[in-house]
Amino acid sequence: MAKGLLGIEPLERSEILEILTRAEAFQWHGQGPFQKLTTCAGRMVVNLFYENSTRTRSSFEIAARRLGADTLSITAAGSSVSKGESLVDTLNTLVAMHPSAIVMRHAASGAPHFLSRHLTTPIVNAGDGMHEHPTQALLDARTILDRLGRLEGLRVAIIGDILHSRVARSNIHLLSKFGANVVLCGPPALAPRELAAIAPGISLETDIREAVRDADVMMMLRVQLERIHEPSMPAGEYFRFYGLRLEHLELAKPEAIVMHPGPINRGREIASEVADSQRSMILNQVENGIAVRMAVLERVLLQ
Ligand code: NCD
Repeated sequence: MAKGLLGIEPLERSEILEILTRAEAFQWHGQGPFQKLTTCAGRMVVNLFYENSTRTRSSFEIAARRLGADTLSITAAGSSVSKGESLVDTLNTLVAMHPSAIVMRHAASGAPHFLSRHLTTPIVNAGDGMHEHPTQALLDARTILDRLGRLEGLRVAIIGDILHSRVARSNIHLLSKFGANVVLCGPPALAPRELAAIAPGISLETDIREAVRDADVMMMLRVQLERIHEPSMPAGEYFRFYGLRLEHLELAKPEAIVMHPGPINRGREIASEVADSQRSMILNQVENGIAVRMAVLERVLLQ
């Protein structure tokens, strides 16, 4: 079976390092227009998004084009999915057009894994439900390495709705494979104790001040309202207990950085002054998304 990228959990450290190193070569330092490559000319990448996306979809598209590949983007709202076509039938239809890879986002955890057992086309997971979002964790790791130079031994506080977050899960797997100390923090309903068992080296904190104390990285997460069906904590109260504010930055290491996968909700999980501060890597993360996705697509397209 052709090799796609379904998650971080099954990857070896060496494979992750290979992608992160290759991504470094694709980082664009802003002198003049980006030199479009031809390495993947003649390949076609289909982006199939069943859930909303701004950053991930556009950056996969830019990445594919920079490698010289053709792209076709399909969103559930504008396709036959809204006419009742099943996932397998949509995928088989697309496969008949002979794409070289399918990048897929779906609300059901495990959807890309299920399809990869039925298709020979490699699938890249762009987020499956509450499960994994591997390219997000890779771009986050690239961003941490750019700024702090290592992952091992870092204290990384992941704060917010951990339970429903595929970003948290992929990051937890990656960071723990590289020996970082991950501290999870959020309201007990969104950061339950069981999450500490996902990987080695994970601890839980209920007080945000304790979570950020001596942290090297503060990774903030949005409350995934689309996955929560009970009434949730009012925004003001959430911000009071779990929102990252300037006063918290004082407790972290002097070099500490703030990250967020986006979309950010100012005044809910992060104060505007923090999101716009020098410590904020939010736009660096977006930028690295392109380089990392180029590295991932190249690996998938040229195998
Ligand atoms: C994240 C996602 O979709 O999981 N966004 C992203 O890909 N940058 C996080 C989120 O939606 O909160």
